[in-house]
Amino acid sequence: MNGILPLLLIVVAELSWACDHPIGHYTSMGCEPSCRRTPTGCPASYKCPHLTNPAAGMCYLGGKTYSIGDYIPEEETLSGCIAGAFCEKSFENPAATQVIYAVFDCAEFFMPPLNQTCVRQYKTKSCCSSGQVCGDAVQQLATCTLGGQVFMEGQRMEIPGNPCKSCICAPGFDENKIESNPNCYETRCFFEIYDTQRVYGGAIPVYMDYNRCCPSSWRMPEATDKVVKGLPYCNVDATMTCKYGNLTLDVGDSLEPFSFEGGVYDCKCAVPPLMHCMVTIKK
Ligand SMILES: *[C@@H]1O[C@H](CO)[C@@H](O)[C@H](O)[C@H]1NC(C)=O
Ligand SMILES: *[C@@H]1O[C@H](CO)[C@@H](O)[C@H](O)[C@H]1NC(C)=O
Repeated sequence: MNGILPLLLIVVAELSWACDHPIGHYTSMGCEPSCRRTPTGCPASYKCPHLTNPAAGMCYLGGKTYSIGDYIPEEETLSGCIAGAFCEKSFENPAATQVIYAVFDCAEFFMPPLNQTCVRQYKTKSCCSSGQVCGDAVQQLATCTLGGQVFMEGQRMEIPGNPCKSCICAPGFDENKIESNPNCYETRCFFEIYDTQRVYGGAIPVYMDYNRCCPSSWRMPEATDKVVKGLPYCNVDATMTCKYGNLTLDVGDSLEPFSFEGGVYDCKCAVPPLMHCMVTIKK
């Protein structure tokens, strides 16, 4: 009997984030999830007022709004190795905005790999390590077990099955209590900085892999896009549609797949208001 209960608990914990659609673009933009869920545990839709109805002369990052001339506080951008970001009029289109920014490198990017007796130390939401622990002191570090892997105190850990969350290993880490752990945090994507014009100009996120938090690119609508109707029962109400260019799709609808040299795009309306695309690479 003893073995059965823990096993059940693990299954339940995994189901709770088994959402089978990429939603990192919504969480990164600070969109509000609907309390309705899909059968696989994704929010049924999101509310993103600044995306569906952006105000003129504003920049957005992580659900916060900045006016032209505003600096974006560093704590908002450091996890992406971005500093000195500020909101500015677009160079190409004076009616639009862009974020000017600097990307920085960490010293460790240029250093030879650590020898076995050192452990780099990270802080939550930081880009670079803040130091390292070497030699005998390594024995004094706490360890964390996560998804069957053992980490040392100070190491950054990815959460299996939840690509948008990371934790820093610290004493007392419990892999079953990630939600309430102050050393765990949401990974943020920076497409609002890198790709402002597309993100706020009607594009949809393109993902290369379900296990990645952030979209790899954004795709603008094209006149050749064709809708393939899905099952008829999916559209509960108007909040359950995706608008893409001139097209309106119900949940369950998709675009006719299209190929590029390296693979195939599958784009569908799964979690409104944005469609998303998955790219399958040709082997
Ligand atoms: C590994 O790092 C430690 C501490 O910096 C140093 O004392 C030691 O010589 C290094 N070992 C090797 C094999 O480089
Ligand atoms: C949307 O419709 C307008 C007007 O019919 C047309 O000019 C435009 O090319 C269409 N856009 C796309 C992406 O199909």
